[in-house]
Amino acid sequence: MESAEVARRFLNFFHERGHTVVPSASLIAEDPTLLLVPAGMVPFKPYFLGQRTPPSPRMTSAQKCVRTPDIEEVGKTTRHATFFQMLGNFSIGDYFKEGAIPLAWELLTRSEADGGFGFPEEKLWATVYTDDDEAQDIWHKQVGVPLDRIQRRGLEDNYWHMGVPGPGGPCSEIYYDRGPEYGREGGPIADEDRYLEVWNLVFMQSQLSEVRSKVDFDVRGDLPSKNIDTGMGLERMAAILQGVDNIYETDTLWKILDRAAELTGTKYGRDHRSDVSLRVIADHVRSGMMMVADGIRPGNEGRGYVLRRILRRSIRNLRLLGGEEAGLMHELTSVAISTMGEQYDDLVRTAANIHTVIDAEEESFLSTLRTGTAIFDAAVEETRRSGRPLLGGEQAFKLHDTYGFPIDLTLEMAGEQGLRVDEDGFRRLMSEQRDRAKQDARDKKTGNLDVSVLDELLTRSGGKVDFIGYNDVLGEARLAGLLVNGANVQAAGEGTEVEVVLDRTPFYAEGGGQLADHGVIRLGNGAVVEIDDVQSPLAGLVVHRGRVRSGEAQVGDTAHAEIDVERRRAISRSHTATHMVHAGFRRALGESAAQAGSENSPGRFRFDFTASGAVPPSVLRDVEDEVNEVLVNDLDVRAFHTSIDQARAMGALALFGEKYGDEVRVVEVGDYSRELCGGTHVARSGQLGLIKVLGESSIGAGVRRVEALVGIDAFRFLARESVLVAQLAEQMKTRKEELPERISGVVARLREAEKDLEKLRSQQVLAIAGALADGAADVNGVAYVGHRAPDGTGADDLRKLAVDVRGRLTARPAVVMVAGVPKDRPVVVIAVTEGARERGLKAGGLVGLAAKTLGGGGGGKDDLAQGGGADAAAIGEALTAVERAVGAA
Ligand code: SER
Repeated sequence: MESAEVARRFLNFFHERGHTVVPSASLIAEDPTLLLVPAGMVPFKPYFLGQRTPPSPRMTSAQKCVRTPDIEEVGKTTRHATFFQMLGNFSIGDYFKEGAIPLAWELLTRSEADGGFGFPEEKLWATVYTDDDEAQDIWHKQVGVPLDRIQRRGLEDNYWHMGVPGPGGPCSEIYYDRGPEYGREGGPIADEDRYLEVWNLVFMQSQLSEVRSKVDFDVRGDLPSKNIDTGMGLERMAAILQGVDNIYETDTLWKILDRAAELTGTKYGRDHRSDVSLRVIADHVRSGMMMVADGIRPGNEGRGYVLRRILRRSIRNLRLLGGEEAGLMHELTSVAISTMGEQYDDLVRTAANIHTVIDAEEESFLSTLRTGTAIFDAAVEETRRSGRPLLGGEQAFKLHDTYGFPIDLTLEMAGEQGLRVDEDGFRRLMSEQRDRAKQDARDKKTGNLDVSVLDELLTRSGGKVDFIGYNDVLGEARLAGLLVNGANVQAAGEGTEVEVVLDRTPFYAEGGGQLADHGVIRLGNGAVVEIDDVQSPLAGLVVHRGRVRSGEAQVGDTAHAEIDVERRRAISRSHTATHMVHAGFRRALGESAAQAGSENSPGRFRFDFTASGAVPPSVLRDVEDEVNEVLVNDLDVRAFHTSIDQARAMGALALFGEKYGDEVRVVEVGDYSRELCGGTHVARSGQLGLIKVLGESSIGAGVRRVEALVGIDAFRFLARESVLVAQLAEQMKTRKEELPERISGVVARLREAEKDLEKLRSQQVLAIAGALADGAADVNGVAYVGHRAPDGTGADDLRKLAVDVRGRLTARPAVVMVAGVPKDRPVVVIAVTEGARERGLKAGGLVGLAAKTLGGGGGGKDDLAQGGGADAAAIGEALTAVERAVGAA
């Protein structure tokens, strides 16, 4: 059974039993406690916590997940992988254990012909939590599993939580017995290789406030209802149903692995080391591809770093197998896209984009490897010279931090040189850096990350703060919560920095590239809070940050919220302009110019998009021209809600990280642009007035950034430029139109003059050639010229002079040495004639002698050689040394 079919069957089974099929959410978790979605239940968390109302009390999904804590184990074992998909059924206060257990049993044991997975009953085992008699009774009495195939286990195995504060509960797991050839009798507690866990049924009932470890946590209380969260690993299920040994041999991963083997001329199953590499490549290429598809871009922090690490590990492992050339990642990514495309049709649609990002990362890493290797070699040499047995932790850290050299690469290359690495030192520096980054993140946006505090605020503001700012710039609300230094307080006095939560607000929280509104909140008791930042740290929650300007802010008071309208208008202009410029680039460059980020600030916006190279200036001009032409037609800007499918059908551009919920908001500018967007916009395109593209640059592998101005800022920029041009024209004494021609004329003349000057200088140097040749000394029958040229004579001229003098002495054995100081360091050139060479006088050797005297080195051919040194004061000595050598020949 193909992997895609396993998912289809699972979803169908639950769909037929009243479950709403919820599409997989993006891998970018909409949860401040997580970087990436690590479990199928993550998108359902707000429903478990009672913060949001689910679309239906019964749901089912196949969710993409990435887990990286065990990344080092990937490939070394066949059980670990960074990317996997979790099939699950969810009940929010609907059925509980008595529903979940029989449903799971039915799907597993129903015949394949009947839409089930066809497992023989006697091959299935169940585990329940230590004291969960209820679950055991259901397994035994209701389902009919004999007691000797039901085992009890403790917190370690049969309690599930997210590892962070949130929902949790005891669970019951189902195991499949692969048979005696895989291990010992005795059920899952005896041998988890023989008995494979296939499904985890979690009875979500508690809310955890503190989680210190898997088995050490505090329960704050009950969840609003008793829920079900189940998780079945799609890959593992596919392995069992396809009769293969492990997930790497299932249809999807195998195709990537097999192609990697083919491309590197490796045979899978031949030796452990190559097998590990092949598995790493298969898993990581797929993981990386899926992450890129969800809009993550390689970077040095957060998700970007996880992605970079994954991609670089794949490239590194390809190289370990001998696959050194560029383009291998492209090929493997294509295979990954086609194998996963059946389940995720977006992949095929955005393939060009995915390739652009991955190809660029490959290119940049290959060049990193080239530079890094030179730095690494220098570090090894230094270590050897100093007689230390360890390559320093700082060096390993610098290689990692500055040159992107993964530590495993450093370890391995050092091993090849017979050196060890100070790993402790390296890890210490890494952790210091992480702490700095965390502190930085805390100081910046994310602010307070104590989720239980945020959860509580959300609950107090009614589960979701109503955003009224699409239509209103002011509104009446209630002050639902106040934080000072991240802690809940009841009141805050004048001058205090506060975070304010209202039950409804006209303030736009920074998001989707749009900057936050500023403004004031006036409270019923007369207190005033000035707001200069607004964030949404948790879906549905809006936190206003600012300072109490006067009076005392008190929870529960009425609030009159009012945003800075001018700022908002300017930001909205930028946002609409960004959509139009995005549309313009798509028209000019094609589908692959997908937005990779943006920032809409007052009067100014920037727009990042994927492209394989620089955008030609002519394209920039054309897009700018087109957008300006379109916007003056004063198109209607309209926002409306619709289903994601409908929006797609209308051709709306969906950006990465969109939540594929039931409804999306679409913003369209006439017929010119249509995008999914939660931001604020102008009412008509004419309000933009004007846009001016400032330029384009690279901000990382495969990503370009366009910066532009809009409205009065664009006008002022152009006005300033115009003044500048007028000033130039006046200075150049010409008309504006003739400036370019005039300036190139001046530049050309300047170049001519420089060349003439250069020629004159050479002539001057060479003018003395005749005199030098005439004055050659006779040293033991050899004509010898030793000359020190004036300081500042260029190395070229020194050489010319030496050659010229030699030309005048060709009939005799002659040695000509010219020394000088072109910049700070001395240079010598020696030219010898054939006659001199016959007497054993070679230019290379003589220069070596001179350069040594000057504290440097050099060399060259027998007839002409050049060298240099550090000590200009030793030139006289060098001349004498060479003369003496000539005399001794
Ligand atoms: N949350 C549970 C798990 O991830 C079941 O879905 O295993």
